[in-house]
Amino acid sequence: MLAKDRERFGSAPLVVTVVARLTRGHKVPEAEQRLTAGCVAYNLLLGAQALGFGAQWLTGWPAYAREVADLLGLAENEEIVGFIHIGSVRIPAMEHARPALADLLGEWNG
Ligand SMILES: Cc1cc2nc3c(=O)[nH]c(=O)nc-3n(C[C@H](O)[C@H](O)[C@H](O)COP(=O)(O)O)c2cc1C
Repeated sequence: MLAKDRERFGSAPLVVTVVARLTRGHKVPEAEQRLTAGCVAYNLLLGAQALGFGAQWLTGWPAYAREVADLLGLAENEEIVGFIHIGSVRIPAMEHARPALADLLGEWNG
């Protein structure tokens, strides 16, 4: 486990930590504030990939440990949404099984 943790942030030359800064009691619900930060992470992924880099969104325990947030200097109302690992592609990403689109879509006719 320790060996895995030592490698956790070592597979790409750049790791961008995306942080959601939550404004408590704001008219925008906290869930939407988190989702907004998620969109930032997703756009980073797409942007990096569009520029020809490999990029992967990873979380794992460091995204949820207060010790890590403290280490990065995050305030009480700031949460790590993900670590975006960016670098040159060495090995193309493996394809994996995808659900059938029809199983995920529903139709509502009122
Ligand atoms: C919020 C979020 C967190 C993720 N955390 C991990 C992780 O900790 N470890 C991991 O192996 N993959 C994690 N993944 C998945 C990888 O990024 C995965 O390679 C990617 O979602 C696959 O994309 P694809 O289904 O388009 O191929 C995470 C994905 C998301 C969206």
